[in-house]
Amino acid sequence: MRDLNHLDVNTLTRPRIWAIGGGKGGVGKSVITANMAIRLAQMGKRCVAMDVDLGGANLHTVIGMPSPDYTLTDFIRKKVDNLRDVMTPTPVPNLWIISGSKALMDMANPKYTQKEKMIRHLSLLDVDHVLLDLGSGSGFNILDFFLIAQEGILVILPEPTSVENAYHFIKAAFYRKLKRATKKSGVAEAVDRAMEEKVARGIQSPRTLIRNVLEINPEAGLALQKEASRFRPSIIVNQIRRLDERDLGKDISIACHDYFGIDVKFLGSIDEDDCVRQAIKLKKPVMDAFPGCPFSQSIQSIVNNLFIGQEAWFGT
Ligand SMILES: Nc1ncnc2c1ncn2[C@@H]1O[C@H](COP(=O)(O)OP(=O)(O)O)[C@@H](O)[C@H]1O
Ligand SMILES: [Mg+2]
Repeated sequence: MRDLNHLDVNTLTRPRIWAIGGGKGGVGKSVITANMAIRLAQMGKRCVAMDVDLGGANLHTVIGMPSPDYTLTDFIRKKVDNLRDVMTPTPVPNLWIISGSKALMDMANPKYTQKEKMIRHLSLLDVDHVLLDLGSGSGFNILDFFLIAQEGILVILPEPTSVENAYHFIKAAFYRKLKRATKKSGVAEAVDRAMEEKVARGIQSPRTLIRNVLEINPEAGLALQKEASRFRPSIIVNQIRRLDERDLGKDISIACHDYFGIDVKFLGSIDEDDCVRQAIKLKKPVMDAFPGCPFSQSIQSIVNNLFIGQEAWFGT
């Protein structure tokens, strides 16, 4: 793989859109999004961090700046002509922030197509990466952004409840993804037929569902298989306290493969590190206040892992 620091970004398909979501509030989505974006910016990549967290829009705080004056609403209401105009510079060179949560709130119940349009606008920005801080839970908005973005990253805590939520999230996102394939002719009927005979056919997972649909209607099965193969979420396990918790991400990835037939990429673990709280108190990003701390080192390694297996995108 080529050294990321020397990539000719102009040859890339830009920008890459990453969505960071899942979990409860407080698992670390915002600090991870902010610091990953800062790391990418430090590597010379032009980045936008966008807050789409309806419950607690605090991305600006963990970046160490006040809430932006302009929000996505100003673009949607045509107060400004260009999405570029709602990109607020941050104290970090190469990093901008867009405040998007109010716009989502204003839209109340945005349709899938509206969310797609929002992502299309973002993909026209002249930057290398857009990182979306999605907020908590597995509501439709979160699932949709997770799926529409090129890459979805789930943050998990090493606790049984959080792990259970993660399985639920991955399964819900996967079924929502498959649902888009059912818009093709014959697919919905084949899925319905398979599900009517669910017990007799032994359908217990998305994997066995696809296998059965392939038997019923090969064309429909292939459409499902194609959609399924495009679902490759990643996970990060945050706030690790014990050594054995470091294996959790790998275990989840193996379980998802075996039970759901879904390839989940484990990006890495992050230790619980008091520097995170200290940096927030100092109103500075962790990567800036404590660049050598365990948290910052884990972020660096996770950012490197983001690109493993993405050589095709880099044209190597
Ligand atoms: N690796 C970590 N070590 C120590 N504290 C952390 C870590 N990650 C997150 N935190 C703490 O959790 C709080 C919530 O993080 P935040 O990113 O706002 O969560 P979310 O966006 O998921 O709601 C932070 O203010 C910080 O105090
Ligand atoms: Mg948050």
